Amino acid sequence: MGVAEKEILPLNSVSVRATATEHHRRKAAFSFLKFFCTRLLPAYLFVYYAFGYSAKYILCRVSYLHHPRRYCTCDNICDTGVITTLPTHYTLPSGDQIPAVALGVWQASKGEVGQAVEAALKSGYKHIDGAWRYANEAEVGQAIKNSGVPREELWLTSKLWNSFHAPEDVESALDDTLNNLGTDYLDLYIIHWPIAFKKDSTELDEALTADPYPTWKKLEEMVDKGKVRNIGISNFNIPRVKNLTANPLKYQPAVNQVELNYWNPQPELLEWSKEHGILLEAYSPLGSNTQVKDTLAIPEVREIARELGITPAQVIISWHVQRGTVVLPKSVTPSRVEENYHVYPLPDNLFRILEKKATAHPPQRVVNPSKAYNLSFDIFDDYPY
Ligand code: A2P
Repeated sequence: MGVAEKEILPLNSVSVRATATEHHRRKAAFSFLKFFCTRLLPAYLFVYYAFGYSAKYILCRVSYLHHPRRYCTCDNICDTGVITTLPTHYTLPSGDQIPAVALGVWQASKGEVGQAVEAALKSGYKHIDGAWRYANEAEVGQAIKNSGVPREELWLTSKLWNSFHAPEDVESALDDTLNNLGTDYLDLYIIHWPIAFKKDSTELDEALTADPYPTWKKLEEMVDKGKVRNIGISNFNIPRVKNLTANPLKYQPAVNQVELNYWNPQPELLEWSKEHGILLEAYSPLGSNTQVKDTLAIPEVREIARELGITPAQVIISWHVQRGTVVLPKSVTPSRVEENYHVYPLPDNLFRILEKKATAHPPQRVVNPSKAYNLSFDIFDDYPY
């Protein structure tokens, strides 16, 4: 071996070894790429598209089951079909944003209602749904004042009672409510019932009951005067809404507040109202004091509550918001007031179970004062009694 060869040989050996290692690395990378492209990726795509499973699905699902209150930061409706947010507000035709959950104060007696309102405002409620007829407005107004929450942060609703439908009586009835609540405007003023009484009596005013347009025109005037921001109706069935809206209205009814609960879910009215841009508000959402216990004992409601780690009342209240309505649970118990404010999106399958169950039985109203008003007809025309 010559000198030149001796010197060159070791160099050549290193170079050959390096080339061999590089070759192995490339081969391994190529094999992995081949495996990824021909096996892993097709398998993943197959599973993803064939079964709708994905890493996102599993993550959403797992995090949802373990943390129903803060699961899934995916889009509004994530791949799992889980609705991840519920509306906190709805936009009315005026552009105003009405909070989805309110404290209802019907049947909240004097001496109790004030502390319920204060508890609600402490818990974060911004929406109080009341009425002149509930005879507790002054205490509600005092509680609002005590809370120190600025008026402009609140949404206050009240209702025009049956005996003030005559146009000349509307403004003074409204002024009385404004005075009781200690405010100079309402966010929403509603015709309480589609029934007009003659002044200072409970005798039916047939003309104003058959045609509420004169009353409505006066309410429109109240909007123009700045005393009321939005106007609506309550307890109107579809023919009664059509009867009113057939007139040349300046302002359409923004809401229709009706009884909506598990026992009387009114799916047709809900669909029709959505189609016609009228927001429904659910009163007696838990079934009122007479049926709340039965509502909260429904096996499906209990099972959903258990699965999501929330309470049966929260399941029902969340269901209402998920149906697209404002919800007005009433409670004078501070812990329940707080509980009722927290709504959670129900996974689509659980929402459907509840919706199906609620709409599968014959509807049964909790509230129908037709007899108490001595009417010769049913206010709702939906079943004979
Ligand atoms: P209370 O006011 O004594 O707390 P609705 O909202 O359908 O009108 O139902 C009101 C009834 O439901 C009231 O009797 C109220 O009792 C009761 N209620 C309200 N919230 C709850 C809750 N979270 N759990 C149990 N009962 C409730």
